[in-house]
Amino acid sequence: MLLEVKNLNVAYGDVQVLWDINLEVEEGKIVALVGSNGAGKSTLLRTLSGLIKPMSGEIIFDGKPIHGLNSNEIVKMGIIHVPEGRRLFPDMTVEENLLMGAYRRGKDPDIEKDLHEMIYPIFPRLHERRNQKAGSLSGGEQQMVAMARGLMARPKVLLIDEMSLGLAPLIVDDLIDIVKKIHQEGTTIFLVEQDVYLALSNSHYGYVLATGRLVMEGPSKELLENKEIKEIYLGM
Ligand SMILES: Nc1ncnc2c1ncn2[C@@H]1O[C@H](COP(=O)(O)OP(=O)(O)OP(=O)(O)O)[C@@H](O)[C@H]1O
Ligand SMILES: [Mg+2]
Repeated sequence: MLLEVKNLNVAYGDVQVLWDINLEVEEGKIVALVGSNGAGKSTLLRTLSGLIKPMSGEIIFDGKPIHGLNSNEIVKMGIIHVPEGRRLFPDMTVEENLLMGAYRRGKDPDIEKDLHEMIYPIFPRLHERRNQKAGSLSGGEQQMVAMARGLMARPKVLLIDEMSLGLAPLIVDDLIDIVKKIHQEGTTIFLVEQDVYLALSNSHYGYVLATGRLVMEGPSKELLENKEIKEIYLGM
């Protein structure tokens, strides 16, 4: 298993927000984590990427425990977090933002090659806009920069938080096509979304988080057919 979470409990100070989380992300898959506002999705991602230390529990990546490591060490192992809200450098160009994603690779001569042979073919729009300031892009284009910047670190798994937030459906379709391409090129994806239909219709396996606890899991196709999920999350 590429990523395993076992009996994870997480709190902010005295306030616990995640209870006894157990989940797995299999290599080569797109795994979805869905749940409403405030369920704890971003908290789980922040814990996976070492920004928050868990109260208890284990996180195992590639067979090694990582819950004691800091975020730099976790990034080096190949876990890359594309944060909610994109967090670009608005006054830097698109290309400068993308190169920031590779800064831990130092003077790796393949960085330029990755940009031109891996990133720009997946994101032709970013190639067109490479010299434009990131802050001047549309929301969808900024999300593309955030995802492409993550890829520049050559992740084994990309954790994508709330990619679709605030974007029009047609733009979200473009982003999903991009996620599928990234997956086809060999990167495992952990897709975190409030948009339950979007995430489950574009993933292999899904987990449902409700106020800090996992309440359901299964192959995404089955979850989409589940009566409770249809009623509670899909309004059907
Ligand atoms: N830095 C923080 N300090 C204290 N409490 C926090 C902090 N960040 C989040 N929380 C609380 O933790 C809970 C989970 O928040 P989190 O952001 O993980 O949810 P989420 O599922 O990502 O929600 P959304 O869909 O709105 O992004 C919420 O009750 C929130 O108020
Ligand atoms: Mg969130």
